Amino acid sequence: MTGPLSGRAESAAPLRARQPGSRILGTGHYLPSNVVTNRDLEKVMDTSDEWISSRTGITQRHIAAPDEASSDMATKAAQRALEAAGIAATDLDLIIVGTISPDMPMPSTAMFVQRNLGARKDCPGFDLSAACAGFIYGLSIADAYVRSGIYKHVLVVGVELLSRIVNWEDRTSCVLFGDGAGAVVLGPAKNDGRGVLSTHIYADGSMIESLCIPGGGSRTPFSAEVLAKKQHLVHMVGTEVFKYAVKGLSASVLTALEANNMAPGDIDWLIPHQANVRILDGVQHRTGIPKERIFINIADTANTSSASVPIALDQAVRAGKIQPGQALVFCALGGGIAWGSALVRW
Ligand code: UT7
Repeated sequence: MTGPLSGRAESAAPLRARQPGSRILGTGHYLPSNVVTNRDLEKVMDTSDEWISSRTGITQRHIAAPDEASSDMATKAAQRALEAAGIAATDLDLIIVGTISPDMPMPSTAMFVQRNLGARKDCPGFDLSAACAGFIYGLSIADAYVRSGIYKHVLVVGVELLSRIVNWEDRTSCVLFGDGAGAVVLGPAKNDGRGVLSTHIYADGSMIESLCIPGGGSRTPFSAEVLAKKQHLVHMVGTEVFKYAVKGLSASVLTALEANNMAPGDIDWLIPHQANVRILDGVQHRTGIPKERIFINIADTANTSSASVPIALDQAVRAGKIQPGQALVFCALGGGIAWGSALVRW
């Protein structure tokens, strides 16, 4: 088999020159304090804790307060990442925010984050729409900017306020998602072998209808009909995405390993997108990375889309699970279908 689902490095875009590279200087995350459990959902819709936890691994999700917007959560995660990095907001050269739930269609959530953080008024920033792969895409872009020497310090945030854009009358999708933000600050590597060693990003536009927000954009502008049909909310054909996710995530992990001449046994931690533990069982099976090396927090957070990987990363870092010199693989997949992986020597 050839192509991006084959997991072969030669099918991917050629890797860039290795030096100068980038490294993650600091991580941070934020989860709203309000927790909604599966049992809470049982009271308001036709579902059960047993169904949700056995089919997905999810026990609860964090839901933002009514006065919280995506940029508020992104700012808190970014402040923690900056603090961990020992970098002032004014030292940032670029702000990238991966999100499908921006504060507004215009301007970017990144501009709210710039203002909230007190970053330089001329610090560029933009939002990146790659759904659950938003953080991996952002990391890939940030790595390229730092590696090329164009920018020194880049903030990459994944943030989602999915509770405002899921259809709470569609039990097949709404129970899966949660709110939150995760962030990293990227800076130049030190030529000591540590840093972002590779990134691979992919997309398959033939799968658009399997996971999308069909209304409210230029194709089907917002209208009373869009509102009545709830087309402005997330629409997902779960089984199609599930199958693609197992293949796409596994292939992107195998590509990362091959591109770095590494075997599954060389990986200390796989930090995957948290969409479904059964998807991760499939990834474990296909990649050969043992389950005890896969960081899983989905029971607590549910699926937070682009925030999922950086939240998990920061939790693992702050729990002391990740140590200098360890090899980490990140992978994520979602609407687009867009997906990708990154291999980092911590
Ligand atoms: O992050 C972006 C990527 N997203 C994903 O990766 C999600 C991928 N998809 C999935 O994780 C799974 O497909 C789901 C968790 C969404 C669904 O799991 P499934 O095992 O594929 O279930 P299903 O859709 O085949 O539904 C099985 C049954 C159906 O009932 P019948 O037709 O068999 O009688 C559903 O109506 O489960 C029913 N069902 C529910 N029952 C209780 C669906 N949702 C619920 C629910 N509570 N919330």
